[in-house]
Amino acid sequence: MGSPASWQNIGRHALLPEARHDEIARLDVIAHLNAYVAERLGPKVREAWDNRASGDWRTRHGREAVDRYEVAEAMANEPAYQVYSLVRRNTMEYRQLVGRQIVGRQAETLRDRARALNASGDTLRLDPAFRPPRYVSAVEQHLMRGGYTAELLEDDVSNPANYDAGLYATIGGSGGPWSNAAGRALVDWLRREYPAFVPQRILDLGCGLGHNTLPLREAFPRAQIVAIDAAAPMLRYGHARARSLGVDDIEFVQGDAADTQLPSGSFDLVFTTMVLHETSRQALPKIFAEAHRLLRAGGLTIHLEQPTYRGLEPFEQFMRDWDGRFNNEPFWSALHESDLPAMLERVGFGRDEVFETRCVAPAWQCSERQEDFGRAPAWYAVGAWRAANGIAAIG
Ligand SMILES: C[S@@+](CC[C@H](N)C(=O)[O-])C[C@H]1O[C@@H](n2cnc3c(N)ncnc32)[C@H](O)[C@@H]1O
Repeated sequence: MGSPASWQNIGRHALLPEARHDEIARLDVIAHLNAYVAERLGPKVREAWDNRASGDWRTRHGREAVDRYEVAEAMANEPAYQVYSLVRRNTMEYRQLVGRQIVGRQAETLRDRARALNASGDTLRLDPAFRPPRYVSAVEQHLMRGGYTAELLEDDVSNPANYDAGLYATIGGSGGPWSNAAGRALVDWLRREYPAFVPQRILDLGCGLGHNTLPLREAFPRAQIVAIDAAAPMLRYGHARARSLGVDDIEFVQGDAADTQLPSGSFDLVFTTMVLHETSRQALPKIFAEAHRLLRAGGLTIHLEQPTYRGLEPFEQFMRDWDGRFNNEPFWSALHESDLPAMLERVGFGRDEVFETRCVAPAWQCSERQEDFGRAPAWYAVGAWRAANGIAAIG
């Protein structure tokens, strides 16, 4: 993974909260702690499993541990895992605390800047009558107090500002200065695999701050792009951020990815980045069905996520399950144990239209091992073309 980038190097825009010297130092400590957890403590947990806990389990049960639950039971009292977990959890708690301290003292300034940038035009469409799905509004995702939808003051953008600043620290800048590695990875994959595919209408479901929407604008300057999210604060911040970066033609729309209210067959590309692990088991197939409905013949849906547990040994599943157990990601485990290609088939895509692939940010070299724990800009992706002849037409 290498040394994490300092927060000094983050891409600046009008909405980014200002961080003082000591606050930047704290954010950098968080980045280093995360790297330490992944690179130094993680291997110690593996050693404890290989050298002791797996054997103890075998002795007690007369067989190998068969799934991640049994590995969790075997590892519960292992000091290496306890230390790993404690440091990782505290790093996340600390990241949220530092972010709140930074944003808290400038919440009104940031709100006013967002208001000014969002004032003109009709590319930000919030719906005061819209009720975000409860699985979004009731969860404090990755320990973020109040979650994506929280509004501490009118037209609030505090949590998104915290998210933007803290994300960079959590991933040690591995998403690049604009934390947009997933969008760049998707563009790179499209260019390499389907150079003739030039989408005219693009939809980003669960766009958040639009980090990963903007690379699509750069790659496809003529496309109409719609970015949907359930959370008004995320959209306010994302829209203002885009404007301050000179992008004023992406439509940021409040809505539900499972029921967008957009016309059928109206998009060539419907994608998500890091959204599926934060959607409920019930919503997930509905989002896929909505993507199927929204695509034109020949259109593509693709979803960038962490790898699912299929085919992974129980210990690896157990390690990757950490966020589901300790990082307030209640849908994490359900997503990772889902058979997403089969789910795409169930919502109407043909077997030959569905695929799995890997999207990696350009110029990033990493081993499979480094993909772990979401700290490297490389993703498992699952997708489908709307019609078999779409592939023929494109390829
Ligand atoms: C982890 S963030 C990812 C944001 C963005 N795609 C990115 O790559 O940075 C997940 C986002 O999905 C949104 N979300 C989750 N479920 C949704 C739904 N059913 N409809 C719209 N947005 C949703 C959340 O509000 C949040 O902004």
